[in-house]
Amino acid sequence: MLAGKHILLIIGGGIAAFKSLDLIRRLAERGATVTPVLTRAGEEFVTPLSVSALAGRKIYRDLFDLGDEAEMGHIQLSRVADLVVVAPATADLMAKMAGGLANDLASTLLLATDTPVMIVPAMNVRMWEHAATQRNLATLRSDGVHVVGPNDGGMACGEFGPGRMSEPLEVVAAIEAHLADGPLKGRRILVTSGPTHEPIDPVRYIANRSSGAQGTAIAHALASLGAEVVFVTGPADVAPPDGVQVVKVQTALQMQQAVNAALPVDAGVFAAAVADWRVTCASDRKLKKSKDGLPSLEFAENPDILKTVCQMKEGRPKLVIGFAAETDDVVENATAKRLRKGCDWIVANDVSPATGIMGGSENAVILISDEGTESWPRMSKDQVAHQLAARIAKALA
Ligand code: CTP
Repeated sequence: MLAGKHILLIIGGGIAAFKSLDLIRRLAERGATVTPVLTRAGEEFVTPLSVSALAGRKIYRDLFDLGDEAEMGHIQLSRVADLVVVAPATADLMAKMAGGLANDLASTLLLATDTPVMIVPAMNVRMWEHAATQRNLATLRSDGVHVVGPNDGGMACGEFGPGRMSEPLEVVAAIEAHLADGPLKGRRILVTSGPTHEPIDPVRYIANRSSGAQGTAIAHALASLGAEVVFVTGPADVAPPDGVQVVKVQTALQMQQAVNAALPVDAGVFAAAVADWRVTCASDRKLKKSKDGLPSLEFAENPDILKTVCQMKEGRPKLVIGFAAETDDVVENATAKRLRKGCDWIVANDVSPATGIMGGSENAVILISDEGTESWPRMSKDQVAHQLAARIAKALA
């Protein structure tokens, strides 16, 4: 399954480093070539000899090893692999990556690489839950770094909770899934998701009930078929999926900017529930109750992001998919919406409260295209996503 694939494995300094020895063995068994890099701290936990013996290859340890520079410079070393895996990824390594530090071989390789990067975090539960680590994690995710684990469980330090490194076979499965040649390999796809928040003042905003669950599931399904996904999300209830480039926004205007910055793409899936209006007179101070009466809000219409992309004269994505959340005359309204906006497909759904779709885990959609109207049975949002991703793959083939 991994025959012919080349993994650059960076082993950080944590007690879980012993699992990386097994990981090397499992990868080698499956035909992968593993080039190991051991950090200084990593050497405290596993020996260079055991790592290189298992990998059957030279181990790299030092940025200033001139012999290595002559043989293979650190830039080249960072780019020869199909995937860079950091396991265990310690809090320190994650912080270095998030901050763009390059003060040893591992961090320099990670900054210089143009190869996808996967981290397998392992650390004490308090370190994992610390705001700094969670901030770094969010940064790394939005940089497109794939994150595997950590698992919950008892730790070497005696504490219990998230922070245990994923088991070697779980890491192998994630690597295999990532390197699988999916039908969307080489395709760049934009997905918008979640609601937007339109401020009234620093503490109040106008929003809607979108949870972001459907858009998140679609982004995940597209990535699992090998697409490079740019995921532009408003403040959603669900966490963004792994393995996609995440751009977080608050307002419709910010979403439009992020979408423009993501272009060109092969396809765009506009699942966001963008607020139609913004408050023009949003105050930079909290509005106070007053004897003089109620505040009055003035609105301006937000740009229609989907329509703007559909009507691009140059560089329009080959496939543009809109969503239509309706409460009445679903097919009629969605059909008109597709024509008005100019999108290729529209995914319509009935979001009347009785359906439980908005904010729920299921969806019942109607796909409307040039080819007609197709009602899909009610299924989980994940299944809708996988079915839609498969359709997209077919359309872009
Ligand atoms: N959309 C968008 N930008 C907007 C409004 C909507 O990109 N400012 C996109 C949504 O992401 C969705 C589609 O347009 O893919 C339809 O959104 P919807 O809210 O159903 O349609 P509206 O144009 O807002 O029409 P209405 O609210 O009148 O039903």
